[in-house]
Amino acid sequence: MCGIFGYVGNKNDAADIVLEGLKLLEYRGYDSWGVAVKVRKKLSVDKHIGKIGDAQVNLPQSVLGIGHTRWATHGGVTAANAHPHMDCTKTIAVVHNGIVENFQELKTELIEKGHKFISETDTEIIPHLIEENLKKEGFASSVRDAFNSLKGLNAVVVAYAPSREIVAAKTGSPLVVGIGKNELFVASDASAIVKHTKKVIFLEDNQMVILGKRLKLINLPGGKEIKPTINKINWKFEHGEKGKFKHFLLKEINDQRTTIIDAVTQNEKKLFEFANLIRNSFDTYISGCGTAGHACRMATYIFSTIAKKHINFAIGSEFSYYEDFLTDKSLLIVASQSGETIDLVEAVSAARRHKSKVTALVNVIGSTLYRQCDLVLPLRAGVERCVLSTKSFTSKLAIFYLLAFILKGEYSEGRKKIIKTARAVGELLDDKEFNQQLKNVADEIYKTKDIYILGRGFSFPLALEAAHKIKEASYIHAEGFAGGEPKHCEISLVSEGTPTIVFVPNDETKSAIISNATEFKARGAYIIGIGPEKQAVFDEWIQVPDLGVTSSIINIIPAQLLAYYLALKKGNDPDKPRNLAKSVTVK
Ligand code: G6P
Repeated sequence: MCGIFGYVGNKNDAADIVLEGLKLLEYRGYDSWGVAVKVRKKLSVDKHIGKIGDAQVNLPQSVLGIGHTRWATHGGVTAANAHPHMDCTKTIAVVHNGIVENFQELKTELIEKGHKFISETDTEIIPHLIEENLKKEGFASSVRDAFNSLKGLNAVVVAYAPSREIVAAKTGSPLVVGIGKNELFVASDASAIVKHTKKVIFLEDNQMVILGKRLKLINLPGGKEIKPTINKINWKFEHGEKGKFKHFLLKEINDQRTTIIDAVTQNEKKLFEFANLIRNSFDTYISGCGTAGHACRMATYIFSTIAKKHINFAIGSEFSYYEDFLTDKSLLIVASQSGETIDLVEAVSAARRHKSKVTALVNVIGSTLYRQCDLVLPLRAGVERCVLSTKSFTSKLAIFYLLAFILKGEYSEGRKKIIKTARAVGELLDDKEFNQQLKNVADEIYKTKDIYILGRGFSFPLALEAAHKIKEASYIHAEGFAGGEPKHCEISLVSEGTPTIVFVPNDETKSAIISNATEFKARGAYIIGIGPEKQAVFDEWIQVPDLGVTSSIINIIPAQLLAYYLALKKGNDPDKPRNLAKSVTVK
């Protein structure tokens, strides 16, 4: 969480370059932002609360600047808490991603030494620590020693007014350095740099880099210089433009007509290698967070039904509590759009401790999980800018299906089924009446306080994901259930007119889920059915084609669109829901 960008080079519009970088990183946090530039022997700073949007910065020309877009952890959303943070002399500026776990004790020591603090953040101790160190050593060593005294997973980028260098260091949180012609960049993610250069260095944990006329990479805590590995990234700069769409959410829902096909157009050797790891492992665990977690839960049904293979699922934040089960014969699969989610990075470390094999499905090439895992299948979904995950969800499902078909010995047939489903997704998205119907449903239900969603089997994770989408987009309380469960509890909450979405595919769950819908209807619920056939219990029928075992991929589309139209109806920003961030790099 939080986006960091830094620039040093021969151009004198550092502030604009940094701001442009921050706009590309805004998905990481958007409650406040700020930029600092070096102007001769001083720093000039501009900070704001709120989203960056189309903002401009009001800063002098400069060849060196750093900036930050924040997702608040310590301290509320105020201009004082926005980064960059400075020392008492106002010559050191720091932007930071992570949490300094020992900030309270460091702050107490600094206050005793006479330092004055103006924010409530943990970050502010860092410039003051550097200020102390500068009394006895140079800029880079001062940052190194300050950084070494921090506990927790952190990434910092520091500017010092008298210096024409930027110093950056990390443990845990991501940082990427870009090497241009007479210019260097540092950012939380390569997508913000790729417009300027394709030559990058992915900083490893406990590394620090000094960016000036040249680049110097050093190991922490000691400070020994090391040779950097320069990677050439071969992706095009994709602003992830909205094109004809008003919002990224709608654009990315529509992207699914091609991204599902791209997901199953994988390197076959790697696909079979991945499937073989599942086949040969003694036990397989799968983990993801948020929407990716729902995809992972779905994988357990996919592998069990198609490949007759049992997979253990745990959401990312709970995974490490199962680590005692892991052995050197275990396999862990993590699934993540960003490849940065901290709970999964920690799950990978837990698996490593037990010498288990670690594999991943990741969208962002070069991300932490992409680099840390033994074998990675890229999602190939393209840039996903909206905080709500849509296309990366169906890409994960498509790959899980394909792996299960490989295990069953039906690679080509399975691939054909998934591609057929993707084509049907395209037709559904093109269907004007279908879109209009979902708009109408949103108009009808947007004032409700609660929405319930029921599904069994494959449709249970879909119910969870549909609720997730609706909550993020509309802030309406929505809850997904395994269809048989609410009679043990939540059916007591149903009242007259409660919108209840029910997934009724043409599979073995059909008759039981219809009974569950009937139980809700008997208590006054308004039943919105998603399925290929009209059922008497439906008050509203959202028709989707029957695509057999891969139907789950298409069944989520109406829920994604409904979430979008609910966001519009409620006047919310569908791309940047309040309090959320796309990449969650703190625990
Ligand atoms: C955040 C996002 C969710 C996403 C989750 C996992 O909470 O808001 O949309 O599903 O992180 O992200 P990942 O990048 O690991 O898929």
